[in-house]
Amino acid sequence: MKIAVLISGNGSNLQAIIEHQQQSKNLYEIVLVISNRPEAFGLKRAQKAGIATKVIDHTNFTGREAFDEQMKIALDKAEVELVVLAGFMRILSAEFTEHFLGRMLNIHPSLLPKYQGLNTHQRALDSGDKEHGLSVHFVTPELDGGPVIVQSKTNIQNDDTAESLQQRIHSLEHTAYPTVVEWFAQGRLLFKQSKVYFDAKELNSPIILTSENSNA
Ligand code: GRF
Repeated sequence: MKIAVLISGNGSNLQAIIEHQQQSKNLYEIVLVISNRPEAFGLKRAQKAGIATKVIDHTNFTGREAFDEQMKIALDKAEVELVVLAGFMRILSAEFTEHFLGRMLNIHPSLLPKYQGLNTHQRALDSGDKEHGLSVHFVTPELDGGPVIVQSKTNIQNDDTAESLQQRIHSLEHTAYPTVVEWFAQGRLLFKQSKVYFDAKELNSPIILTSENSNA
């Protein structure tokens, strides 16, 4: 299965997927990495792994639609079957998300529906939450609002900071995201008429991959 990964920065999730692709004996193949930022470190990671890269710099476009259209053309040309957003920091147009509906994933550093948008770690701390985590979800036109497939959770400790939480969640992300990509490549995951199916059963709540609470 041909996949593309869209990034804007460091690309540590991209790296995790690259390594998983190699371990999974090429169950899927990352055929293209697109960045909207020319300086994104993830581009170097992709090049080192011999993956085709493309920079589509959003600052060269006057409108969101024109930028998205360029990405759509590049992804369709590469015959991509799954689009993986991994730290891609652009809001996508409804037209783009609808074109890839059911074949585009995102990872978000919070337990959605909590804390859509930015600064999720600080917001979890400020709210006095006992736990925090990440969500992998199908992308729909609603920002960070598509159905959640998987969550990994960690308890918030008294001495946690936004930085310590970010680090912990990042390392959980590096297991969770490749797992979901693998499921999709195996045909175990399906998005149909706004519903998610896992192993042909409707998923009514997220699969909890990791949790420090035994009752979770
Ligand atoms: C991750 O925390 C992810 O949840 C969010 O952006 C970050 C990307 O990190 N969407 P990286 O570029 O993969 O290291």
